[in-house]
Amino acid sequence: MQQDQTAWTRREFCRVGAMGIVGAALADPRAALAAPAKTRVAIVGTGIRGSTTWGMNLVRDAGEFVDIVGLCDVNPDRVEVARRWLGGAVPAFTGFDEMVRAVRPDRVIVTTVDATHADYVCRTMDFGLDPISEKPLCTQAEQAQRIVDTEKRTGRRLDVTFNARHEASAMKVKELLLAGEIGDLYSVNYEEFLDLDHGASYFRRWHGLKQASGTLLCHKASHHFDQLNWWIDSDPVEVTARGRLNRYGVNGPQRHANCRLCPHKKACDLYWDITSSKQMMELYVDCEDQDGYFRDGCLYRREINIPDTYSVQVTYANHVLVTYSLNAAAPYEGQAIVFNGSKGRIDVRNYNRQPWQVPHESEIRLTRSFKDSVVMAADPQRGESFEHGGADQRIKRMIFDPGVADPLAQRAGLKAGIMSSAIGIAGYTSIDTGRTVRIEEVVRL
Ligand SMILES: NC(=O)c1ccc[n+]([C@@H]2O[C@H](COP(=O)([O-])OP(=O)(O)OC[C@H]3O[C@@H](n4cnc5c(N)ncnc54)[C@H](O)[C@@H]3O)[C@@H](O)[C@H]2O)c1
Repeated sequence: MQQDQTAWTRREFCRVGAMGIVGAALADPRAALAAPAKTRVAIVGTGIRGSTTWGMNLVRDAGEFVDIVGLCDVNPDRVEVARRWLGGAVPAFTGFDEMVRAVRPDRVIVTTVDATHADYVCRTMDFGLDPISEKPLCTQAEQAQRIVDTEKRTGRRLDVTFNARHEASAMKVKELLLAGEIGDLYSVNYEEFLDLDHGASYFRRWHGLKQASGTLLCHKASHHFDQLNWWIDSDPVEVTARGRLNRYGVNGPQRHANCRLCPHKKACDLYWDITSSKQMMELYVDCEDQDGYFRDGCLYRREINIPDTYSVQVTYANHVLVTYSLNAAAPYEGQAIVFNGSKGRIDVRNYNRQPWQVPHESEIRLTRSFKDSVVMAADPQRGESFEHGGADQRIKRMIFDPGVADPLAQRAGLKAGIMSSAIGIAGYTSIDTGRTVRIEEVVRL
């Protein structure tokens, strides 16, 4: 098909670069004036996510739409590392208000420890700016309500970066459900299993502390609860959950503060050598003096106070029933997700790091009642091999490129962020109390 040369998208317009824009400006000065300004973003929390995905890689993936104008972290050494990684020109701060007043961003990206997102999201809105929050949006009921109330009061717009909505298999499932391939949805079974590398990593870090992560039901499962809310297209009503710490924490045979200095290195089946990574050494070990935080913390620390094994049931307003489980100490890694509907069933199997499979394969099986199964792979065009299978690139463009359409409703705002966190908060409350917890006990929209 012949392309209409006059109908440029914003992306194509930006791609011609400075020469093209100067040339256009000479021919018609109004053309240069029409070039849209880039969004000026500041980042709070310059750990690995803030300094790579939303730092260096944001410039790489959406640099024609975004300028990073400020960096902030409570650790002065770590924010300095991020500044260096970004080329040395972006000003760095340890105070959030000071940064916002000095650099006057359009938007703030919040990539701090989970339990602190709510404070920065609210503070950003109070500054009259639009926050972009990493998941989970919040980890406590009080925080959820505060965010809802602050958004109402300030009228600001929030984006929550649920990149798992942008995974190839997740998008394919959404397409099948929207097309009515299995009729009315009755139930979903979602099984998440993390291996002794990835799963264990949560227990080495701040994630193993409930006060920092809100347990893996807020931290990790916030992706999955959001996917469920999006696929089911309804609101969660009540949650019953159980959890146990089986493998890590007090269950370990020996312990120390961290791996690097541990006298039990040889005896430990999960010893991890952080010194083999230059990136980890610069971003964490070289910054330890400032905050005492060990990125290679011991998996068997007595202070670990979250389960590694979870079982959750969620009931939805449209009567869909969900059974969810998470195991963070499995011998291999992946997901098994099943959708049962009035006309058939969808089985999703995501194979990540399994001994008998090619890594990162995804199989989706659609079986209509009384018909043969059809096995389909997720669209290979969507399966780029880096940063969560390309999901991170796609979400950045959706947030910052105004020309990107949203036919699958993947943009996630306040309600999505709140509802995902609310299931996690209701889940750990149910584990703590042994009772079923209603979402309206956690937050009211
Ligand atoms: N969507 C995804 O796929 C994905 C992947 C990884 C991490 N994340 C999220 O990104 C966030 C950051 O994770 P990470 O792996 O980079 O962790 P990290 O520990 O590497 O970084 C967190 C940073 O926040 C800083 N910090 C802590 N409290 C602060 C405060 N009160 N004010 C300012 N800075 C503070 C720390 O010093 C650290 O530099 C988390 O919320 C995590 O859930 C999302």
